[in-house]
Amino acid sequence: MAEDDAGMLSARASASAVEHSSAVFWLTGLSGAGKSTLAFGAEKTLKALGYRVCVLDGDRLRTGLNRDLGFSEADRMENMRRVAEVATLFADVGVVVIVALISPLAEGRELARRVTGRRFHEIYLAADLGTCEARDPKGLYRRARAGEIAGFTGIGSAYDIPLSPDAVIDTCSKHAASSVADLVTYIRSRIELR
Ligand code: ADX
Repeated sequence: MAEDDAGMLSARASASAVEHSSAVFWLTGLSGAGKSTLAFGAEKTLKALGYRVCVLDGDRLRTGLNRDLGFSEADRMENMRRVAEVATLFADVGVVVIVALISPLAEGRELARRVTGRRFHEIYLAADLGTCEARDPKGLYRRARAGEIAGFTGIGSAYDIPLSPDAVIDTCSKHAASSVADLVTYIRSRIELR
């Protein structure tokens, strides 16, 4: 299958299903760090390569499964617990799962690791607050600074930087496509083809 230098598929590439192991790739980072962009970008590439893959994205889950949750510590813990349980169900049936949640609490990420087991990979999307705030793709930092959103991560509530993540992807100094390629490379290195 043809790939360019960034590891992305060329338009000519065709997908034929491959048999593979499963795992949970848990992307954590500030709002605006690029979690959804990387998750959906990697999903597209991996699907084109024939992998079974799904994305569990915080924003989407909060309109459905987790719509009863807010942003207190307890609710963020419950958010992570539920998503870890769902991710485990998908992984159990052989799907490569990419989770995109801020997941600001180290304790919550540890809980997710316990629920998910050995297949858990914590991937820190390293982008500092200044960079994320300058991007502000949804205008949320501006609203948080204006006092319109209480407890916004990085401003009114803490983000625990991962101390020993399984991988770090720099989303500050690189283009998105390059960071997506880094994520795809990492995932493919951890998924066994059968
Ligand atoms: S988490 O902290 O519980 O992991 P999650 O990833 O599910 O967060 O949801 C984050 C999204 O919720 C943000 O992208 C943003 O759109 C929205 N949001 C609303 N209020 C907040 C807040 N106080 N802190 C962070 N994100 C918020």
